[in-house]
Amino acid sequence: MSKSFGPVVALRSGSLEVAAGSIHALVGENGAGKSTLVKIVAGVHRRDGGVFELDGQAADFGSTAESKAAGVAVIYQEPTLFPDLSVTENIFMGRQILGRMRRIDKAAMYAEAERLFAGLGVHIDPRRPALGLSIADQQIIEIAKAISLDAKVLIMDEPTAALSGVEVERLFTVARQLRDEGRALVFISHRFDEVFELCDTVTVMRDGSYIATRPIAGTSVAEMVALMVGREVAELFPKQEAELGEVVLEVTGLESTGVFHDISFSVRRGEIVGLAGLVGAGRSEIARAVFGVDPYEAGRVTMKGVAVPAKNPRAAIRAGMAFIPEDRRKQGLVTEASVAQNVAGVIRRGLARTGLLTRGAENRAVGPWAARLEVKTSALDAPARTMSGGNQQKVVIAKWLATEPDLLIIDEPTRGIDVGTKAEVHRLLSELAGQGLAVLMISSELPEVLGMADRVLVISEGRLTADLSRAEATPERVMHAATHGSQEVA
Ligand SMILES: Nc1ncnc2c1ncn2[C@@H]1O[C@H](COP(=O)(O)OP(=O)(O)OP(=O)(O)O)[C@@H](O)[C@H]1O
Ligand SMILES: [Mg+2]
Repeated sequence: MSKSFGPVVALRSGSLEVAAGSIHALVGENGAGKSTLVKIVAGVHRRDGGVFELDGQAADFGSTAESKAAGVAVIYQEPTLFPDLSVTENIFMGRQILGRMRRIDKAAMYAEAERLFAGLGVHIDPRRPALGLSIADQQIIEIAKAISLDAKVLIMDEPTAALSGVEVERLFTVARQLRDEGRALVFISHRFDEVFELCDTVTVMRDGSYIATRPIAGTSVAEMVALMVGREVAELFPKQEAELGEVVLEVTGLESTGVFHDISFSVRRGEIVGLAGLVGAGRSEIARAVFGVDPYEAGRVTMKGVAVPAKNPRAAIRAGMAFIPEDRRKQGLVTEASVAQNVAGVIRRGLARTGLLTRGAENRAVGPWAARLEVKTSALDAPARTMSGGNQQKVVIAKWLATEPDLLIIDEPTRGIDVGTKAEVHRLLSELAGQGLAVLMISSELPEVLGMADRVLVISEGRLTADLSRAEATPERVMHAATHGSQEVA
């Protein structure tokens, strides 16, 4: 299939053949065209050319309602449930079960939702509102909905990006069950460990085109990477030794009831400090409090010896902090603004010194960073909304690096970023640290923490349970402190 958006060719020649009873991985670099292909199958976009068949029948969906009716379900990274409606109402949206007198039969709907959840081996209260459910539970509800519609094809576009380890395992168990029932599953992910654990077949895309399909058994990570990038990938963790300078960030006794407790640490110039721990341990909350997005009840944050007021991100930026949040699409990007405007937004003050802010000036400030991170987009003045997920993330990173901060707080620096650019992001962090930047990095990927950090702080249930030097930080020690937190300290 092919698809262009104006001058941008999103899909040149995308091919994918998925068998019933199979979990098929679809991999490729950011912007390779994976989501575009999926959106054509789902009826979000219409293809320009090519062949699309479902069960041997020519298919062409003009809307998501049509694709659903034909048995195609897509689970996105961020599900779109209606928060005010109950779990059950979300599952049966638009096709309520009717009882006598054509009244909506709520009891029958609850019972059916319970049956669906039991079949999936999960426990979710069908009567509760969708509001406040974890992303993992929301995805399960989308899957339950797909099953109730008897979907033959279930496509998951980066479903695990926001899940914890336990949640990923639960999703995989459900996926395997659906495979065993004879459904066809497509799984998109940038995490190779997941692809190898879950899938039986893999199709690789590059630059909008089909490259190859292979059985997972007998394919190595190296082979898959080579097919994806079509070139040698630089060392994934190019950590340089940096000279540590004076303390930049000092956090003392930071406290937020029920979230984190008595957190103290410091980050020096040239140092990369990794915050490790399980998803939900409180790492992002600590970062958000330090930067002043979230409040804290006690404790102190200083930058270069000067106190930084709480709950005041503007003051934090003035003090030299930059913060790249975990959920970059929601918190980090103005999706209607162009790439250049996004990046320049943060440095506007600097650019506007002359009193003039021209598009040329914006592009000049932004261009080098965007190029460095290989932001794939037709033009710097294209709206960020039209970029692939991974490329949107790169724009947010570029935007903050352009502010030339003293301290960079980065939450999950390479989530959703493809393997080639991962190495580039790591090299960039290492290089910037070498030039005296202090870095506080949160990451759920243990190899990333161990590969990049000079020091590893482990957080477990809101407490700092280990402070390990690069030499001390072995996978076993970090995992132990992350899971058996309190004993470690005692
Ligand atoms: N609505 C749109 N308008 C313009 N360009 C688009 C649109 N949607 C996608 N593109 C472009 O098509 C290309 C492929 O994007 P796509 O989202 O399919 O990539 P992807 O393989 O899913 O990448 P990622 O791994 O980053 O999610 C990108 O260059 C993107 O900018
Ligand atoms: Mg995508």
